[in-house]
Amino acid sequence: MLVTLKEMLEEARKGSYAVGAFNTNNMEIVQAIVESAQEERAPVILQASQGALKYAGIQYIVGLVKAAAAVSTVPLALHLDHGTSFEQAMLCIRHGFSSVMFDGSKMPLEENIAMTNRVGEIARAVGVSLEGELGRIGGTEDDITVEDKDALFTNPQEAATFVKETEVDALAVAIGTAHGPYKGEPRLDFDRLKEIRDKVDTPLVLHGASGVPDESIQRAIELGVGKINIDTDIRLAFTRAVSRVLQETPGEYDPRKILGPAKEEMKAIIKGKMRLFRSSGKA
Ligand code: G3H
Ligand code: 13P
Ligand code: ZN
Repeated sequence: MLVTLKEMLEEARKGSYAVGAFNTNNMEIVQAIVESAQEERAPVILQASQGALKYAGIQYIVGLVKAAAAVSTVPLALHLDHGTSFEQAMLCIRHGFSSVMFDGSKMPLEENIAMTNRVGEIARAVGVSLEGELGRIGGTEDDITVEDKDALFTNPQEAATFVKETEVDALAVAIGTAHGPYKGEPRLDFDRLKEIRDKVDTPLVLHGASGVPDESIQRAIELGVGKINIDTDIRLAFTRAVSRVLQETPGEYDPRKILGPAKEEMKAIIKGKMRLFRSSGKA
């Protein structure tokens, strides 16, 4: 069944766990996510970026997720990841997404608030949830200086203003994670996360969570993170399995014999995350 992000995150808060939000762009990834959720009895968020929608086509992504929702017995949400325009959010709502993200993090605060509200007014009217973002999550940058931190990471006071004025259902925060593989070990700014948590009651979202140590993930959940985004770790599992099969069986030409093992490798990663996020057994 397809549910909203808001409902899912309310349950997660009550049960003190976080819901995994896994990026998808093809059938095997959708199957890996949904089969994992089913086998772990975990609620799950399937999310597609603008790049993923361009690659697969929005009809295919929605069709795949709806097919999964028809056969699954655990709650699923379909979410737009890092939407950067009003039009993109509207398109996703029209095609049946149960949740959208408007990412105005590169805009000045007032513009981010105004644009998030523009999307939010329509989303709320049709029962679709909304995630906003404040602060720069960016790519993998090592050695962020203290001055950089204050300029790039989420300002707790601004987070309070943003949430009060937009009433988003979830807020993505920048506390030291980055998208893509990390060069060193990521160090999260938990003091900042705590300060945000003290000022903001809305569930928080941790982007760039691939490669973040387990203890940091657990601490983030304790400090109010309710949605955790994973893409890179799935991509790495997929690629690892494909390379292994082609290396072990150089003459293989049947896509099923290549993508089948890739699905299994992705499932092992996804199930591990569900246990780490403590969402296993919650559906
Ligand atoms: O946050 C970014 C996600 O990993 C999606 O990346 O824009 O390459 O699809 P993408
Ligand atoms: P990773 O690719 O680093 O896991 O980040 C995923 C993400 O934040 C998607 O929005
Ligand atoms: Zn992200």
